Amino acid sequence: MDRLRVIAVVSVIVCLCSGSPLPNFVVLFADDMGFGDLGSYGHPSSLTPNLDKLAAKGLRFTDFYVTSPVCSPSRASLLTGRYQTRSGIYPGVLYPGSRGGLPLNETTIAELLKPLGYTTAMMGKWHLGLGPNGTFLPTHQGFDHFLGIPYSHDMGPCQNLTCFPPDVRCFGHCDQGVVTVPLMYGDVIKQQPVDFLRLEDSYSQFATEFIKASANHQQPFFLYYPSHHTHYPQFAGHRAAGKSLRGPFGDSLLELDSTVGSIIHTLEQTGTLNNTLVFFTADNGPELMRRSRGGNAGLLKCGKGTTYEGGMREPAVAYWPGTIQPGVTHALASTLDLLPTIASLAGAQLPSVHLDGVDMRNILFNKGPSERKAMFYYPTSPSEKLGVFAVRTGRYKAHYYTEGAAHSETTPDHDCHITALLKKHDPPLLFDLEADPSENYNLTPGDFPDWASVLQEIQALKEEFEASMVFGESQMARGSDPRLEPCCTPQCSPKPDCCRCG
Ligand SMILES: *[C@@H]1O[C@H](CO)[C@@H](O)[C@H](O)[C@H]1NC(C)=O
Ligand SMILES: *[C@@H]1O[C@H](CO)[C@@H](O)[C@H](O)[C@H]1NC(C)=O
Ligand SMILES: *[C@@H]1O[C@H](CO)[C@@H](O)[C@H](O)[C@H]1NC(C)=O
Ligand SMILES: *[C@@H]1O[C@H](CO)[C@@H](O)[C@H](O)[C@H]1NC(C)=O
Repeated sequence: MDRLRVIAVVSVIVCLCSGSPLPNFVVLFADDMGFGDLGSYGHPSSLTPNLDKLAAKGLRFTDFYVTSPVCSPSRASLLTGRYQTRSGIYPGVLYPGSRGGLPLNETTIAELLKPLGYTTAMMGKWHLGLGPNGTFLPTHQGFDHFLGIPYSHDMGPCQNLTCFPPDVRCFGHCDQGVVTVPLMYGDVIKQQPVDFLRLEDSYSQFATEFIKASANHQQPFFLYYPSHHTHYPQFAGHRAAGKSLRGPFGDSLLELDSTVGSIIHTLEQTGTLNNTLVFFTADNGPELMRRSRGGNAGLLKCGKGTTYEGGMREPAVAYWPGTIQPGVTHALASTLDLLPTIASLAGAQLPSVHLDGVDMRNILFNKGPSERKAMFYYPTSPSEKLGVFAVRTGRYKAHYYTEGAAHSETTPDHDCHITALLKKHDPPLLFDLEADPSENYNLTPGDFPDWASVLQEIQALKEEFEASMVFGESQMARGSDPRLEPCCTPQCSPKPDCCRCG
């Protein structure tokens, strides 16, 4: 045992000294973007030259899942490799005054990489808690640097804010009765309310400086960029505004695309591109309630807030020129799998907790099959009593419960709407997602001879999974306190309107 450890240590040192540096990681995470929103996934009028290039020269996933149809839980799973129910990021999402956040004893990808000498940064939308004195900010979760907004940018009054130049007001009113949205640098509020028109440029600059500094110091790096785009209310600065055929949503998407382009350009310039895994995906399905400003799930059913495919199946691309061959994979994969994959690529030790992710290297490098046997679909508000709403294994998906959502209003499909109340299915609805990705045709024993055996297999997977599931204490159940809302002038009055600076 000891001898093995010595050999392992020696080989790491040899590896470092022989000029084969540790790989860098860039994780790009769009917000409320659907399966049908990118040109590479069939959208006819999106303008995304840089994301198109990643998709053409990288490995594009057709069957990639997040763990929740809403924001905070999906993010918790990406960073920890664990379902949100384990870490307590349920039900729903965190708010500006939330007492809770991603528990500090959870191990994030950033924390996993730190002991190996990585430098780490995050820019964009955090949404995993703020808490008293910023307890839950990224700087306390393994990130050396942070520039961004601690939650969604609609979680503060936006009716007087400018979303497009020269002075086009943001669409809608966003959340009322809370502080305006702050921009934070580290643990400090830099600006309140944030200036949307200059925000994306600040992110590009932050990323450029971070990558250049890491390259100069020959230090391996991890950059996590969960973007605000293309969440409501859409915004864009002067370079993207009015430039897409698709209107405000398209302009927001174009601005995200430009930042992606700027990051790739910096990787090229610093000679780090061929040693960097770039991974792109999105946190949950489109917010259909915003009509044409709400994104598009393509041929998938429903969107945000539901456990239909449109809520949780996302575009995803792995890009690593020279190392990952261009192509398309139909392997089943998930944001849960990023942490174990990054750990094995870096040679990092896995946290000694129950992980739900599996190593994706066989998919990335050999176009081989997935180690993932199943995907479990938790609703926005998971409970131990109801358990998972749906299970996918292989080509089959069974729905034990279905429910519409306010976030998926307005398309003609009534199953998506809030009026489609929680419904138990016994026997479960069964769909063949390869033959019927839109979940239109429920299989029955009459038209599908393997019906009983497929449902039996799914039921066994569900039972095994649920037996392993220990719900962590709900962070959302800790409630909110308006005094915890970020305010750059803490002593001012009357709150929340007096919190302004920058
Ligand atoms: C973190 O701490 C809480 C409270 O003590 C505990 O219930 C939970 O299991 C811990 N989580 C991990 C990942 O260690
Ligand atoms: C924040 O920190 C300050 C100084 O350490 C302390 O006085 C204050 O009580 C803390 N606030 C909260 C809400 O914990
Ligand atoms: C928006 O502007 C109006 C008119 O100037 C003002 O009365 C109102 O307080 C402002 N609201 C916010 C949230 O800033
Ligand atoms: C990566 O690219 C740099 C120049 O940009 C080159 O010096 C280096 O040899 C390349 N490494 C590999 C592994 O291809």
